[in-house]
Amino acid sequence: MIVKEEAQAKLNLTLDVVGLLPNGYHEMLMVMQSISLCDEVTISTKPGDGKINVSTNRSYLPNNEKNLAYIAAKKYMERAEVTDMDVIISLYKRIPVCAGMGGGSSDAAAVLRAMNRLCGDALTVDELCELGADIGSDVPFCVRGGTVLAKGSGTEMEELTPMMDCGIVVLKPRFSVSTPKLFAELDRVKICARPDTEGVLRSLESGCLRELARRCFNIFETVLPQREADVVAGVKDDLISAGAIGACMTGTGSAVFGLFPTVEEAERAYGSLCKRYKECFLAVPTRAI
Ligand code: C5P
Repeated sequence: MIVKEEAQAKLNLTLDVVGLLPNGYHEMLMVMQSISLCDEVTISTKPGDGKINVSTNRSYLPNNEKNLAYIAAKKYMERAEVTDMDVIISLYKRIPVCAGMGGGSSDAAAVLRAMNRLCGDALTVDELCELGADIGSDVPFCVRGGTVLAKGSGTEMEELTPMMDCGIVVLKPRFSVSTPKLFAELDRVKICARPDTEGVLRSLESGCLRELARRCFNIFETVLPQREADVVAGVKDDLISAGAIGACMTGTGSAVFGLFPTVEEAERAYGSLCKRYKECFLAVPTRAI
């Protein structure tokens, strides 16, 4: 048996940290959006005793139990009590790594969906999300995708009015910053700017892309080290100069996205920006799976 699943990237239209949770994790408030940029996950099975093999088209990624796709397959087999087959996972990666786009989380989520298909839908989508929360905070969102308000550690989700059609260009500068370091920096400093999450929810409901685009904001941008903050500011300027009506960093970076009123405008911007940025991607928002 072979099944294929798309593992779509995510963007944070907003990202706010609103408190500390008893387990030491941070309490998040984020508007998350899945986009068409995706990895391809292929899973085949054969009779066996539960071995998992992972291969990818990126030589620097782990092929062992450190890969979230491996962890997802293992957790699925434990939960669904699958003991009589080996699983061969092949990841064709397009989503940039260490970009804040949930690439690893989305691969894990796609593995959970694929395993569930292979096992006759043994688990419900809610159960897949529950399993995903044990793998990483973004995995439950990646199981469903669409437009979601994520709360708690990021795993509690409220479905929102789907994002309006638009074009998206994502640029990934070369640096990446450690996620725990950025959280620690947020704990240390006095926060002086936050996203207007309510305003973003209103913009989604009214379907006004311009209102949404100008409100996209990520609190992690305020605590980047100076050099990285300058790079992100430069990338945002480049996107706006190329016609974006709003630009924002996603997750803990370093990818920055720009929103364009139409796919054609995004394509034009992509045409010029991809000459200057090695990692440049074109996408559109996608709906829940
Ligand atoms: O859940 P995930 O593996 O993506 O989290 C990576 C790291 O980010 C955690 O080890 C933790 O330091 C931090 N984190 C947090 N609060 C959250 C999510 C992540 O402090 N809600």
